[in-house]
Amino acid sequence: MSQTASLGFDPRNPAFVADPYPFFRQLRESAPVWKGPLERWFVTGYEDTALMLKDRRFGKDYTDPEAVTRRFGPTAMQEPAVIDLMQMMLMRDPPDHTRLRGLVTKAFTARRIEAMRIRVQELTDRLLDKVQADGRMDAIRDLAFPLPVLVICELLGIPEEHHERFMTGSASGGALLNPTTPTRAELDAANAGTQATGAYFEALFERRRREPRDDLITQLVQAEENGDRLTTAELRANVALLFAAGHETTVNLIGNGLLSLLRHPDQWQILRDDPSMIPNAIEEVLRYEAPVQAVSRTVAEPVELSGVPLRRSEIVVSLVGAANRDPAVFENPDRLDVTRKDLKPLSFGGGIHFCLGAQLARIEAAVVFETILRRLPKLRLLEPDAPKWRPSFTLRGLTSLPVAWN
Ligand code: HEM
Repeated sequence: MSQTASLGFDPRNPAFVADPYPFFRQLRESAPVWKGPLERWFVTGYEDTALMLKDRRFGKDYTDPEAVTRRFGPTAMQEPAVIDLMQMMLMRDPPDHTRLRGLVTKAFTARRIEAMRIRVQELTDRLLDKVQADGRMDAIRDLAFPLPVLVICELLGIPEEHHERFMTGSASGGALLNPTTPTRAELDAANAGTQATGAYFEALFERRRREPRDDLITQLVQAEENGDRLTTAELRANVALLFAAGHETTVNLIGNGLLSLLRHPDQWQILRDDPSMIPNAIEEVLRYEAPVQAVSRTVAEPVELSGVPLRRSEIVVSLVGAANRDPAVFENPDRLDVTRKDLKPLSFGGGIHFCLGAQLARIEAAVVFETILRRLPKLRLLEPDAPKWRPSFTLRGLTSLPVAWN
């Protein structure tokens, strides 16, 4: 244990964030179920993670103020961002989770998502039209960030004249997802985001109650299942969850994917030669640089993982980015290989909380990669050796990605 403690798990350290994989490997080899900082368990294996995601002995437990305080610190129950988080389906156990997810799924149908493909193509082309003649762009600022934001704005039904105001930065408290107790500054930033978007959405809900439209917010406002409406707090928090997912995850799939593929020109070439490989390549970049690096659960009933007994109420964090590189499941796991077969990365989670936006994210990434390969086949990195990672552990992504094609 002391040996692993000295390995240097340091999710606030930029050098650690830049390359956590050597740590993951050492941890998997020395203590696959490890009691780390803050008395939390850390899991690095694929099978352990898959079990933890599917087995109901692991839950979320976010309705218990004591559990919430253990995660977010002594002021947790007074922090607007934490109170909002507690209302999100992502943080709830059945039966609340079932009710919330059911209501949102009704509005977020596969048909509605698939219908977005054409719109995603139009938006991608429009964003590339703006920069094509320049011969270069910041692939995050000019493409990977605005695309998912525009898509989620349109799906939710945010009026077009308001899209610009959401183009500047992240709306939610991604730092609250890190496996650390948030600092005062992180809580303040998360609270400010929650309050600003919350006030905006409440005004929009009112508008859609008066003037219904064919959009997700209208459907959610009208949602009723088994006579059980969403409370205003649940409506606000779950719309904020969809909105934040649009801001903070798909951008990282596109950005991390472009970085990984362009750093491996042989892999990029495979896609140039055969674009039908793109869907497989997306699963491979999801595996190789997972946009969400950790998911956590609370032990609901005593359970063993890899022979280690876990007690009720203990917090367990799966390091998804480590599970995705488990050599027991993936041969040569540190190698990017877009031709891998039977890829099942755990990057969208699993079990009852499996990502609701997975199909949308895959469509967006596929359209971007297809379009770039067609329109900018000579795309190359301008700073291949110095990727600028955001200072965030759980949500893994780049602040900028300068590329050129001239
Ligand atoms: C590449 C992009 C994305 C990744 C890697 C990702 C990853 C994840 C993961 C790992 C979970 C499960 C967390 C857990 O079990 O604790 C999750 C849940 C969720 N995701 Fe995503 N996500 C992405 C995009 C999106 C998008 C675009 C949306 C919606 C517009 C979305 C909406 C959600 C929702 C609502 C949940 C909660 C589901 C539940 O609790 O039942 N995600 N996502």
